Amino acid sequence: MPRRFSPLHIQPQPDALAGAARRFVLVLVGTVVALSVVLATYFYIQQREYNRFSFQNVIWDGVQFRNEHQAYRISLLEALSGGSLPDLQQHYDLLLGRLQQIETGQAADIYRGAPELQVLLQKIEPAVRGWSGRLAAFAAGDRAAGQMLLTQSQALDADFDSLIAGVNAIGVRRLELSRERLSGLYTVLIAAAIVTWLLVLGFAYALMRQLRATELAHTELQAMTADLEQARREAEEASRTKSNFLAAMSHELRTPLNAVLGFADIMRQGLFGPIGNARYADYIDGIVKSGQHLLSLINDVLDMSRVEAGKLDLSEDELDVLQAVDEALDLVGVTADGKGVALQRALPAVLPRLLADERLLRQMLLNLISNAIKFTPEGGSIEIAAAVLTDGGLAIRVRDTGVGMTDHQLKRVFEPFSQGDSLRAREAGGSGLGLPITRRLIELHDGQIHLSSRKSAGTTATLIFPATRVRLLAGAI
Ligand SMILES: Nc1ncnc2c1ncn2[C@@H]1O[C@H](COP(=O)(O)OP(=O)(O)OP(=O)(O)O)[C@@H](O)[C@H]1O
Ligand SMILES: [Mg+2]
Repeated sequence: MPRRFSPLHIQPQPDALAGAARRFVLVLVGTVVALSVVLATYFYIQQREYNRFSFQNVIWDGVQFRNEHQAYRISLLEALSGGSLPDLQQHYDLLLGRLQQIETGQAADIYRGAPELQVLLQKIEPAVRGWSGRLAAFAAGDRAAGQMLLTQSQALDADFDSLIAGVNAIGVRRLELSRERLSGLYTVLIAAAIVTWLLVLGFAYALMRQLRATELAHTELQAMTADLEQARREAEEASRTKSNFLAAMSHELRTPLNAVLGFADIMRQGLFGPIGNARYADYIDGIVKSGQHLLSLINDVLDMSRVEAGKLDLSEDELDVLQAVDEALDLVGVTADGKGVALQRALPAVLPRLLADERLLRQMLLNLISNAIKFTPEGGSIEIAAAVLTDGGLAIRVRDTGVGMTDHQLKRVFEPFSQGDSLRAREAGGSGLGLPITRRLIELHDGQIHLSSRKSAGTTATLIFPATRVRLLAGAI
């Protein structure tokens, strides 16, 4: 007994999971990109700040300024004790240069921005600039001016020291600030790493779930496929068994039936002397008619089961279609005449030959033409036409002006034993196997059958053989 699987068991839907995984990847990539942008900006700002407040420059400028002041003092002392005056002037100029550097150089921002340094510079700067006049007087020989310069310079020592100390203090503060920023940066980095890892873990988890679900679905699908395959094999086996049984039964039935028909025929013909009572002759006619009906039914069942069991092999030949149609018309001519139905040939003078099984082609034609005769009342007509199609195929058409069928009937006529108008069909005789057999036979020839019909407006049945079976002759259409 095969297991039963409901498709609903396959949970969750792989499509939905794939969508979720895609969204997850997008979020992950988006987050990583956003974090990278934030960090890069942060680093950039930090770097710029660092460059701007390069404290080496700041301290260097301050220290140089103070050193220059000391060098100026030494050369002043030397000048006071008879040393070179131009040397003193040179040191004073250098001192002014250092002052200028502090006021306008790279580090000027820092000096201007720190109030404690500003206070000191406002004191130092006018004093230093003011020395130029006294220097000139000292150079002109005014020794008192030189002494005064020395006093003033000494008075600024403490301010210069404060300036350096102030600059150092600012440097220390900046350093603290940088350290704080750096630790902030580390925090951001660690947070970003944690978030990224969490996302990666989440993604991996979702991926694993999806894989598990897909595996599950795959396994169930495999099991279902195996079950279906098993069911198909069993159904095929059952169908083959049924067809074999039918074929065997039909065969077994035909042998005694032929004997019944043969003996009844002998009796009907009175081969061994006449039958005493005239009523027996009627009964014998009845036996022959019923027997023939049974025989044709058995033959149909046999054909049908042979086709279904795949045991009907085509014995193919290049046939003359016109001849095949004419032979079929000859066979049904008497019946049509007896019913008062006209058979019209609408065939071209020449037709290409057709690669087909002669017996089966005749059977198809007879099935269609006998249906047309059966379901066309007296006075009606049947037209048989044939033509080569534009795609190179060949069509044989049987059109009648008979009772026709409703759409509902038309849909079911290819089901075995289904008879559209069952009452009329029973009256007309038959078993409902003619069209199903015809369809299987034309399909064996790689062709198709088309049926169109309207109630009370006649029926058209068309057999279509593919171009591969049509053998065009020189001079043909
Ligand atoms: N030309 C037609 N006009 C009207 N109805 C038709 C025509 N051909 C077939 N049918 C309908 O289709 C049904 C099935 O046709 P099919 O040939 O298979 O069976 P049947 O003729 O009844 O019996 P069987 O062919 O086995 O002797 C018929 O019973 C009939 O109702
Ligand atoms: Mg029929």
